[in-house]
Amino acid sequence: MLRRLHQDQPEVFAFTPANLTWAKAQITKFPEGREASAIIPLLWRAQEQEGWLTRPAIEVVADMLGLAYIRALEVASFYFMFQLQPVGSVAHIQVCGTTSCMICGAEDLIAVCKEKIAAKAREVSQDGKLSWEEVECLGACTNAPMAQIGKDYYEDLTADRFGDIIDEFLQGQIPQPGPQNNRFSCEPQTGITSLKDYQRKTVRYNASVDRALGLSDTVRRIDGSEVPLLTPWLEQAGKGSPAKAKKSPQRVINPSESAVAASKKSDLLDLKPATLDGPREAGADDLQKIKGVGPKLEKLLNNMGFFHFDQIEKWTNKEVNWVDKNLEGFKGRASRDKWVAQAKLISTGKETAFSSHVKTRDVL
Ligand code: FES
Repeated sequence: MLRRLHQDQPEVFAFTPANLTWAKAQITKFPEGREASAIIPLLWRAQEQEGWLTRPAIEVVADMLGLAYIRALEVASFYFMFQLQPVGSVAHIQVCGTTSCMICGAEDLIAVCKEKIAAKAREVSQDGKLSWEEVECLGACTNAPMAQIGKDYYEDLTADRFGDIIDEFLQGQIPQPGPQNNRFSCEPQTGITSLKDYQRKTVRYNASVDRALGLSDTVRRIDGSEVPLLTPWLEQAGKGSPAKAKKSPQRVINPSESAVAASKKSDLLDLKPATLDGPREAGADDLQKIKGVGPKLEKLLNNMGFFHFDQIEKWTNKEVNWVDKNLEGFKGRASRDKWVAQAKLISTGKETAFSSHVKTRDVL
């Protein structure tokens, strides 16, 4: 399925103070140099805040993690959990259309969506309350057909029951999630046939349904106040346990402030490498031997103070991050094309598959 950024985008995105605190804390959960691993929770929190994932939000998250924008977009456009277009204010409904669900009636569910919500997937209903789409297997195949609405699964659906569920949402009610045919979980329809001694007869709902009913609002988006941070090392920051707490990046969130922030790059995610005022006496190295570096990029690197392979081979991860971010028009190239590894090989006299072609400019 083609997943693209929506044509209408807001100008800016900024996390709310509570979400910003939460997001910064998430980053500290990962080792130095691996902060990019926080991308899924940060994108998710941005989506929870706005309702859908906007381009400015993706870029702000990328900036926080020291990532090229394309890297963050790759993640956002890959996972169905991220909505790249506006969704219904009450709920976005994801109907599984994969094998088990398709065999058991997914097409009937999709017909209900078309009738009750909007004729096309990812269109918002006329009243703005609901939207829908077909998605790949959601891992509840035993309870096919099913749909995810908000944070919960609605399973063992029929078209009639699914229509009722949609009506209940529209009336402001919260339907009971889980199996809709009185199954407890994913046991055989006629009841369990093994491990009967472990059957808990006093429990009415499975754990997921029980939890959802306990929350009583299964489509409410999180706003940053309800989830504990679970980062105890941050609380120890002032008590002589600074090792991890100090890692909390001091990133600027609002893109409108990024110009100011650029001059204050003292945060922990990138570091400007040592530069030279000009090439050494023997002249600059032919940086175009590095795959991915053409004439324009070589000139840019020279303007930035990089002339030699032995400069590039010494860049640390943080320094690569800095270079990636400051390659105007070519952001992300240093890490994408592994310049450091290439420079290491070339400066020791070895050839890369690419550099051997460059000798004769036999390059496409
Ligand atoms: S096929 Fe629908 S949940 Fe797996």
